[in-house]
Amino acid sequence: MTTTPSLTVFGASGRIGQPLLHYLSAAGIPTLAVTRDLARATPLPAVQWVQADMADPASLAPVLRESGAVFLLSNYSPSLVTEQLNVLKVAQRYGQAHIVKLSSGAADSAATAPVARAHGQVEAVLRASGLAWTLLRPEGFMQNWLTGLARAVQHERRIYEATGEGRRPYLDARDVAEVACTILANPAPHAKQTYTLTGDEALSYGQVATLISHVLGEPVTFVSQTSAEARQRLAGFGVPVSVIDTLLDYAECQRSGLAARVSPAVATLLNRPARTVAAFIQEHRHHFA
Ligand SMILES: NC(=O)c1ccc[n+]([C@@H]2O[C@H](COP(=O)([O-])OP(=O)(O)OC[C@H]3O[C@@H](n4cnc5c(N)ncnc54)[C@H](OP(=O)(O)O)[C@@H]3O)[C@@H](O)[C@H]2O)c1
Repeated sequence: MTTTPSLTVFGASGRIGQPLLHYLSAAGIPTLAVTRDLARATPLPAVQWVQADMADPASLAPVLRESGAVFLLSNYSPSLVTEQLNVLKVAQRYGQAHIVKLSSGAADSAATAPVARAHGQVEAVLRASGLAWTLLRPEGFMQNWLTGLARAVQHERRIYEATGEGRRPYLDARDVAEVACTILANPAPHAKQTYTLTGDEALSYGQVATLISHVLGEPVTFVSQTSAEARQRLAGFGVPVSVIDTLLDYAECQRSGLAARVSPAVATLLNRPARTVAAFIQEHRHHFA
């Protein structure tokens, strides 16, 4: 008979989940990796994939029954709160799981931005749940630049954002994954801790454009948009209104200088500096060229 691993990872097929599984697997930590579609499963030593859906509480019991620790992540959708609360309800039934929730640097149950509000609502329920918890609140991921921003650089040598000269300490999603791995491997010392995760340096999009220019050897221009211009551009790409509202709220926060604060948590938890924007751009230069 095989034993069920006592660590469950939701979001295992995503941008954070994939590197997280690699770190857990490399550390030899037996892990149950959840996906709604087993076609997305990547086989790794010590990792057992299982099909379950946060929207379907009956599917959650088998993946939570034996769990001592759970990594809780799902991408934003209007059902994020309901689905993540399903996980908490089922985990409460068994009582023993320490929940490490991937939240947001902007999490606030009273926020106007839908994504920030959804994470804040789940955080509030988790804190009151009686379960052990740790909250990870990352700032914006550098990996966000590999889609629309990279396309604009490729085709027009321009970056369009409504952030003005405001700065943000962007971080590499792989650092988030490594922090999560460190905590999941030994969660007890991190109980009731909320970690804001950032890079070690806050940069404006003008500075990001300069770094990309250096790597490409060609000028890349930052185009400072108004909120209305950014809304129109994002709507043209088919971005849902709730996500546009959230992005513009974050952009306004950055423009007004409120997003520049650097947290020491990544360096403290990993005992090394956070990955840098310059290194990220160099490594992903083919996306921008
Ligand atoms: N982008 C940023 O800059 C940023 C900053 C701070 C916080 N965040 C937060 O980071 C999270 C996104 O992380 P990511 O980029 O790693 O996500 P991602 O790549 O979009 O992957 C989403 C993952 O969630 C899983 N998932 C979604 N709904 C599910 C359900 N009903 N049942 C089971 N699994 C479900 C998906 O699994 P399957 O599809 O395999 O089922 C997938 O593995 C969001 O909560 C976002 O708010 C993002």
